[in-house]
Amino acid sequence: MKILVTGGAGFIGSHMVRLLVNKYPNYTIFNLDKLTYAGNLANLTDIENKPNYKFVKGDIVDAAFINKLFSEEKFNAVIHLAAESHVDRSITNPLEFVYTNVIGTVNLLNAAKELFKADEKSFNRFYHVSTDEVYGSLGDTGMFTETTAYDPHSPYSASKASSDHFVRAYHDTYKMPCVISNCSNNYGPFHFPEKLIPLCINNIKNNKPLPIYGKGENVRDWLFVEDHARAIDVIFHSAATGSTYNIGGHNEWTNIDVIRLLCKIMDKKLNRADGTNEKLITFVTDRAGHDLRYAIDSTKLQNDLGWKPSLQFEEGLEKTVDWYLSNEDWLNNVTSGEYQKYYSGQYAR
Ligand code: NAD
Ligand code: TYD
Repeated sequence: MKILVTGGAGFIGSHMVRLLVNKYPNYTIFNLDKLTYAGNLANLTDIENKPNYKFVKGDIVDAAFINKLFSEEKFNAVIHLAAESHVDRSITNPLEFVYTNVIGTVNLLNAAKELFKADEKSFNRFYHVSTDEVYGSLGDTGMFTETTAYDPHSPYSASKASSDHFVRAYHDTYKMPCVISNCSNNYGPFHFPEKLIPLCINNIKNNKPLPIYGKGENVRDWLFVEDHARAIDVIFHSAATGSTYNIGGHNEWTNIDVIRLLCKIMDKKLNRADGTNEKLITFVTDRAGHDLRYAIDSTKLQNDLGWKPSLQFEEGLEKTVDWYLSNEDWLNNVTSGEYQKYYSGQYAR
């Protein structure tokens, strides 16, 4: 089994690659990544020399390159995570999101279609990793289910919604073996420190302000990243072709409550008096078109495939803080930009 994972040097992709490489020694896992600002091969140092792991640097927007790679390697399956993923960046530069998230996804579908046409048994899965943000924003009540109508608001969620539609269209039109999952907000080790939780961990460490958009009343449903990777593993191996699964932790928090909890945990970890870190909280101008609330109903995944989250948020957040505090080199390399030199051979591997 040759599996192509796209975006494997990113946050969730690196956890996915690690899980597959360690759990399935008889699979060969190809990690295709462009190494944008979000891609970091230092996320994978523990598995980079394993015999069943191969890294390929490349851009999913480059159709000629993708077609050649697929025809040479004849993958049996794709798990597609590569994307531009930060809402704030999508507000500044929407077109980049159209290229990677929409055109990149269609390029992969086209290349996979050729393998599927040539041998339907051999190419047996196109797994598209998506987000709950395609469903739009909830009011005070209700949850997103797999049948909730799409209603994206940000350029990021609009590009992910578009890619989801293309994946479904390739299943319906060409009978391709596609599966989609839509997950809520992830947190955990290797999260790029411009996203809320790692940004605030880094800022607390350095006594810098914690920027909370608006009044901090927006609600997100947080899932530990390793639980997401476990869910993808289960769905990849067991879901029916053409199916969709929502993945989430039934774990809703307002942003201000997340940051207050983080401040408390870090008061203890850094031996600061109770309440010290909360003084760093600073309310800043709200994000344009900021979705109020996301909440995922993952009953289908729990009932059909027996997956459930393994960690309570308090425990997962403490584990995450511990990871960032004991991996200062990783954090410093990312914040200084040093990490981008990793692949160009300046670091011995
Ligand atoms: P990330 O930004 O940390 O990583 C994205 C990876 O894709 C990076 O390694 C980057 O180098 C690579 N990439 C970007 N453009 C590329 C291109 N044109 N060609 C090849 N590689 C490219 O993102 P993430 O948070 O790990 O998210 C992974 C996937 O999961 C995305 O599809 C995202 O929409 C989805 N998702 C994320 C979350 C979340 O909370 N982070 C939640 C649900 C779904
Ligand atoms: P983010 O981590 O960007 O994920 P998403 O927008 O995909 O949910 O943001 C999580 C929440 O935190 C979101 O409601 C926006 C908010 N936020 C802040 O309040 N301040 C920040 O500096 C950032 C990056 C996000």
